[in-house]
Amino acid sequence: MAFIEKLLREMTLDEKIGQLTMGNIGGVIHSNNPSDDDLLDDLRAGRLGSLIGIYGEAATARLQRIAVEETRLRIPLIFACDVMHGYRTIFPVPLGEASAFDPDLWERTARVAAAETRADGVTLTFAPMADVTRDPRWGRVVESPGEDPWLAAQFAAAKVKGFQGADLSRSDAVGATVKHIGAYGAVTAGRDYASVDISERQLNEVYLPPFRATAENGVAAIMPSFNDLAGVPTTASATLLRDIVRGRWGFDGVIVSDFNAVPELIKHGVAEDLAQAAALALRASVDIDMLGTAYMLGLPVALKRGDVTIEMIDEAVRRVLTLKVKLGLFERPFPAARGSAEREARALAREAGTKSPVLLKNEQSLLPLKPQQRIALIGPVLGGDLLLGGWQAAGNDVKVVTIREGLSAVMSPGTLSFAKGVDPIGDDVSGIAEAVRIAREADVVVLSIGELEGHTGEAASRADIDLPGRQRELAEAVLDTGRPTVVLLSAGRPLTLPWLFERAQAVMALWFPGIETGNAVADLLFGRANPSGKLAISWPRSVGQIPIFCGERPTGRPFSTSDMYTSGYLDTPVTPQFPFGHGLSYSRFEIGNLRTNVAAFTTADTIIIEADVSNAGAMAGEETVLLFVRDVVAWPAAPVMELRGVKKIRLAPGASGTVRFELAVKALAFPGGDLGPEVQPGEFELMVGSSAAPAALARTRIRVNG
Ligand code: BGC
Repeated sequence: MAFIEKLLREMTLDEKIGQLTMGNIGGVIHSNNPSDDDLLDDLRAGRLGSLIGIYGEAATARLQRIAVEETRLRIPLIFACDVMHGYRTIFPVPLGEASAFDPDLWERTARVAAAETRADGVTLTFAPMADVTRDPRWGRVVESPGEDPWLAAQFAAAKVKGFQGADLSRSDAVGATVKHIGAYGAVTAGRDYASVDISERQLNEVYLPPFRATAENGVAAIMPSFNDLAGVPTTASATLLRDIVRGRWGFDGVIVSDFNAVPELIKHGVAEDLAQAAALALRASVDIDMLGTAYMLGLPVALKRGDVTIEMIDEAVRRVLTLKVKLGLFERPFPAARGSAEREARALAREAGTKSPVLLKNEQSLLPLKPQQRIALIGPVLGGDLLLGGWQAAGNDVKVVTIREGLSAVMSPGTLSFAKGVDPIGDDVSGIAEAVRIAREADVVVLSIGELEGHTGEAASRADIDLPGRQRELAEAVLDTGRPTVVLLSAGRPLTLPWLFERAQAVMALWFPGIETGNAVADLLFGRANPSGKLAISWPRSVGQIPIFCGERPTGRPFSTSDMYTSGYLDTPVTPQFPFGHGLSYSRFEIGNLRTNVAAFTTADTIIIEADVSNAGAMAGEETVLLFVRDVVAWPAAPVMELRGVKKIRLAPGASGTVRFELAVKALAFPGGDLGPEVQPGEFELMVGSSAAPAALARTRIRVNG
């Protein structure tokens, strides 16, 4: 682009490095505790190309004005923010929204978030997080789309589409950053920031696909993870970033480091000083140093030492400026439109809030509740912020509908009683007696328990993933009353609570549903909405089962109850508490008559797969039908099941219909001998059902001829 080349010719080294430096107010530029004035000096001198952590139109406008009016070259700033599940209108957390298995919803919520974000002058989001994880100890599981690479790829692609639209310069679009490439979800023992040491095969099969799907489809930016891969921090991995992402995938957007990750290369033990850290990151193709001092202070030294060239710096600056051009910032540095209408945004939050919860258990159809029932609402996890989850962007002043408010709005006066029982954390159990008292007087108890937002997210890994504080005592005391009990479990991860699943009649995993929680919960409890969410992650019975996921590789000794020399445990079943895809509805769906158009295919064909679905229940509802595949004989062996399709069907009571998948034979490929995609001729098993539970699947086989 001639315009960019002209700018590049005019830029000093400092100004070039400035474009590669992302700062924030109160951040780590120059010193550990700079004043606002230091930041403004850097800004005026062209030493900052982007900023994070600035909210509000007035704040971004003030700083943008300095950039475009007071700097020598008048290059506009990019303002970046973690818009993970909404900007002002907070939607369900990603693990919750993933449970909707609904790309259209994922895209619509991202679009609303983008419009709100851009209206504040923020043009880059650090989302979606596409980290597959099979370890719910890891706190960031809440930000993830779950255990499955295919689903994570669909999720990430839909989010990118929603954030970016067709044209990044539009007044309702923002650039997306898919993060954190480098198998972050596989950190050792689920401990955040820990090392990752996995096979190349696993990296290619499980962790990279969602990144590839977005890199090849126009995502604006990619962020490498904090961790190392077998000793090579991803921030410094030329193999991953330069060879695979840029080389093999052809990604020419911006690569932005994670927060302070470039200077942290010193602590990783691969760099001696900032200059070496900066050189490693730039050589790996990291364009922007987020909140680090490495590029600002280290790159000039690295250049003198000959560890980087000016061409490498120019290459990175070119990519940053290209993104600014694509965002339309040179023509319109200030926001041009208001965000989306609040009423519609809230309605969408309510819709997402009803589609994300997963009904795990519903014995004797305790749910839906009947309007005339007297309900005791008990528990500590009922209120505002507790239901939002982490990364609330600018959502802090927005009204959150609490569970109590949501239920009160639809119940007759005098039929809802309330007791907190205990706090979410802490040791005070004095409120349990009152909770038991109101439980005894009610027809049904709704028990709202779970984690706090702070128990999940970054730096929030847990070794025991059960109920914090004294919530178990509260739950057991309430269950001891014998009153029928519905448990609403708010959490950022599956919690290992076998005793609860044994004892409570109904349990719904809410995750953190966002600003419309109370209304969404009331819709679901009273049957105005029919639960349709499904687990995007297998739910373990105990921490000892982790990692547990449906796509494992076969063993020579598959578990059998009649042979002890098979793959299992002495002290716990081998199956999860609830499998991937599990999620009940108030309807009862039956899936059968699985068929394909023909039985044999070539690699150029598309397989038409159909199954009939009927609603044998008494309520209209939506079933999500999952399609898994298995390469029966492969080299090396293929996983026992891999998700390759999802179809939704809405059915009235008593009605039936057909779901149809069109699966290109190419989609049966998996990383072959050289880790490139390969379809190996032979027999494939197709499995269709409502979850990954073997008993829930209809099966058929096809042949692919070479
Ligand atoms: C997180 C990223 C996030 C960044 C900026 C880091 O600590 O790992 O996910 O985008 O902070 O807020």
